[in-house]
Order: sequence, then C-alpha cells, then structure tokens
Amino acid sequence: MLGLGLPLAPMGQRGAVVAAAMATPVGAGPLRGGALAASETTGPVGLAWDEDGTIVYAGSADDLPWLADAGSPDRGCLVPGFVDCHTHLPFVGWRADEFEARLQGASYRDLHGAEGGIFRSSRMLREAEDDDVLEFCRPLVAEMAALGTTALELKTGYGLSVQQELRQARLARRMADEAPQTCTVTLLGCHAVPKEVERGTWVATVCDELIPAASDEGLVDQVDIYVEDIAFGLDDLQRVAAAAAAAGLPLRVHADQLGTTGAAAAAARLGARSADHLNHCGSSGVEALGAAPSTSAVLLPASTFFLRAGSPPVAELREAGAAISIATDFNPGTSPVNSMPLAIAMACSLYGLPPLEALTAATANAAWVLGLDDRLGTLVPGLRADVVLLDAPSFAGVPYRPGHDPVAGVWIGGESILSR
Ligand code: NIG
Ligand code: FE
Repeated sequence: MLGLGLPLAPMGQRGAVVAAAMATPVGAGPLRGGALAASETTGPVGLAWDEDGTIVYAGSADDLPWLADAGSPDRGCLVPGFVDCHTHLPFVGWRADEFEARLQGASYRDLHGAEGGIFRSSRMLREAEDDDVLEFCRPLVAEMAALGTTALELKTGYGLSVQQELRQARLARRMADEAPQTCTVTLLGCHAVPKEVERGTWVATVCDELIPAASDEGLVDQVDIYVEDIAFGLDDLQRVAAAAAAAGLPLRVHADQLGTTGAAAAAARLGARSADHLNHCGSSGVEALGAAPSTSAVLLPASTFFLRAGSPPVAELREAGAAISIATDFNPGTSPVNSMPLAIAMACSLYGLPPLEALTAATANAAWVLGLDDRLGTLVPGLRADVVLLDAPSFAGVPYRPGHDPVAGVWIGGESILSR
C-alpha cells in the first residue's frame, strides 16, 4: 500500500556536507526510555551520500569518502530532516475569525456546534476547485520544506461524504506526487458526524464503503479517527479499527484532546500506530502507552498552545517509557502552525521534553509512526540523505530560540532544497 505517491529516489549526484556537530537518534524506532535521547557528536563531522541519495557515511569529517561540497567544519549542526507525522493538509482557507472568537470566550466545542470548525473547512473544500486547493497548499508545503520538514503526513477529514473524502485523498496523492518531501496519506473518515446523518450510520458507511474504496484505489496508507464527545466514541473506534485491519491499514487515533474518553488506552489496546494529542490522557492511558510495544504517544504542542489547553502528562509518559513523537497538527482550526522547529520548541518549553528527546520524537519516532522508518528518520548509512543543517552549534539551539528560523540547509534524498 505504502509507496504510492512517494517520490522515487532521485538519481542525482553524490554529495557530502561537513559541520561542527551532528545529532541523530540511534537504533530502530519506536525509541523510548533511555533510547529516546538522540546522540550528539561534536568535532568536525561529515555526512556523505551516493548518486541514489542514500547515506554512505556519517562520522568524523576526516574519514569522508569524498570531499564535502557544502557546510563548514567549524559551524552548524547536522540532524535528520524533520518528519511531521500529523497534519490536516490538504485544506483550503483559513479560520482566523474563529481564533478571535475563542479569544472573546467562545470554545472550540461552541464553534463546532455552530457549524464552524471542521464543518466550515468541509464547506470550503467542497466549494473549491481541485486546482484552487492545490494552489492554496503548494506554498505551505514549500514553506515546510524550508523549515526542515522532509517528510509529512497528509490527511482527509474535511470531506464528510464518501465522494468528498475520496476526492480529498486523491488531492493528497497529487500533492504527494508534486512535493519534494516524502508524503503519506491518512484517511480520517470519522472526523465529524456529517449533518443530516446519524452517527452509527456514518460509521457504518466509513467502515463498509469508504475505507474499502480508498484502500482498493490505493489512496491511503493509514486510517485515523477523532474520538471525542463532539465526534466519535470508543465503540466507533472499535469498528473503525476492525475495518482498517481488514484493509491492512495501520490505525491512528485522535485521543483525549478536549476531554478524557479513554481513547489513548483503547488505542494502545488495539495496537494503533499512535494516540495523538493526549491533553486529557489519564493514568490508565499513560500506563497503556508506556507498556504498548507498537503505539506512539504523538504530542501536538502547537494545538495545545493555540487552544490555550492544558498540557498532556508528558513527564508521566516519559517515566512510563512511552515512545514519544512530535508533530505540528497543521490545520486551520486548532494549529495554523506548519513549523517543526516551533513545535519542537513548544514541546521542550511547554512540556519539559529535553531537546535531544524532542529530536528523536520529531524524526525517527515520527518516521516510525508513518511507516517510513526503514528509509528515513536517522543519519545512518543505508537510509535516505534527508538532512537539515542548523545554524546552531548544537540541536538545543532549535528549542532555545522559538520563532528564529534555524535552518541553514536542507537536502531531500541528497538533493539540495535550500542553502543559505
Ligand atoms: O487535530 N480535533 C480534531 N481535529 C483537528 C482540528 C480540525 C479543525 O479544527 O479543522 C485537530 O486538532
Ligand atoms: Fe489532528
């Protein structure tokens, strides 16, 4: 399934870059506990890749197999490209007035109830031409590449009908074909209950029609569901999990965002690839995610910041040994933030995540969430040369300066995307 829409490895030129430091997660994801912290090396370091854009060397600059054509041995830090494993692209149109209404006291739930929120983005998507949607998204994805995001998730969820969900998934595949980044597509058929449809009827439609149709057409790589009092329940999660499993698609879960539903624990129990948000994750959720061998706790601190919500129990999740990932949740309602450096800064300062743990969460673990860890997410020979050169002397420079753009260079599969 996975692979459709992914760019072929570019046949370019071999290359190499040097810097004063390099930081990379070590080992196979999902990394947790003591293995969550990335390893940082100082001293002139170098990274080399072959014509296929595959890393062939990572280590001391002295032993590079050929001369570096980029970077400087006395400045900057090399890290794997960021993997944004939770976004709601493609969408069209902003909802800044809802942001202002929330500052005046309206809640996200109020706006949702008044047919704003997801329903409004759904209307904007339905009313836009395909090309207008792509035109809206193109600069946003380019901006993400310039901010060091070399792989990302695209998601449906604004369709709210079988036909519009499939259309959004096809648009996502077109975006994936165009983008320099590696993009996967997730089907969020259960995002809001469409108006005029009873919840159970819509869940049945998603399970019996939408998931099989999207899967048969090769449109999606994963399936997601929004479990919340204003959206879907644990019984719906169970049905969607079964339909995703029948289609051979990994499950993702929007869990315990606005209130406690028990979705994080259920996601772990069902073997979901991730439980995302977790602002209201209770102790049973923490315990389940700590023990789950193959469920990542995806933190989305930009939506916490933007909704002025309380933090998830991050210290407890770390203590329990959860495999933590970080993403932007980029969407027009709860997180109009497409910057992984900013999401990382927020994860450190709002949640107390140590910088080198945040690096693993934003690269290797996020790549594992998307099923891409066999090809990207760490700087080791054999993986794609998806690389970011930071202007800081160590990775901690990224969370240390929120709002500063720390990216001095970006390579995707060995191709230079940005150099400044
Ligand atoms: O992950 N909470 C549900 N879904 C999105 C927001 C979608 C929207 O408001 O458009 C989220 O926060
Ligand atoms: Fe989301």
